[in-house]
Amino acid sequence: MDKKINIVAISGSIRPHSSNMAVIEAAKAYLDDRVNFTVYHGIDKLPFFNDSKEDIPEVTNFRDILKWADGILICSPEYAFGVPGVLKNALEWTVSTGELVYKPVALITASTGGDKAHASLLLTLTALSSNVADDAKLLIPFIRAKMSADGIVTEPATLQAIYSIADALIRVISEQEADSH
Ligand SMILES: Cc1cc2nc3c(=O)[nH]c(=O)nc-3n(C[C@H](O)[C@H](O)[C@H](O)COP(=O)(O)O)c2cc1C
Repeated sequence: MDKKINIVAISGSIRPHSSNMAVIEAAKAYLDDRVNFTVYHGIDKLPFFNDSKEDIPEVTNFRDILKWADGILICSPEYAFGVPGVLKNALEWTVSTGELVYKPVALITASTGGDKAHASLLLTLTALSSNVADDAKLLIPFIRAKMSADGIVTEPATLQAIYSIADALIRVISEQEADSH
């Protein structure tokens, strides 16, 4: 592949000092010299999904960014045994327009437990027909124990696991690109 790969990362947590944002930062630092790595910060600016056909600038911008991306990295916590509403809402805006159909997506759920949100997000990504490879999904339980006091992911095995997910995402994008020629 000649052109630089475009990765867009989305955090399911909009909390300042989010550990999922720290996971995204770890992936960004690992991939930065190989890809264009953009963090989309606007999910909390999207209105509640209502399948409106009118032009809503925030929604159009979100959809355009997803279309532009060669691959998406989603990192999310679990809240109340489920997917954070703000992330589910964002994903719902792609259902009728299909920006994530066949799109290579890597999923990291970093939470205290997280297994229910992880399973639920994988189900949603299946509904969206995204291309989620078996080695592009990762559950990181007890995420805060794997971070330093200043909010950086420091645990070596966790960092390695994040890097493996990043590598898998790049591989899937490259394979998909090769198949399209
Ligand atoms: C209201 C609330 C509900 C939570 N519910 C869950 C839960 O059901 N499962 C879980 O694994 N963690 C739960 N947590 C813990 C969060 O996953 C944890 O705080 C995580 O670090 C948040 O992600 P962030 O650091 O990226 O914001 C909850 C936290 C809050 C504040």
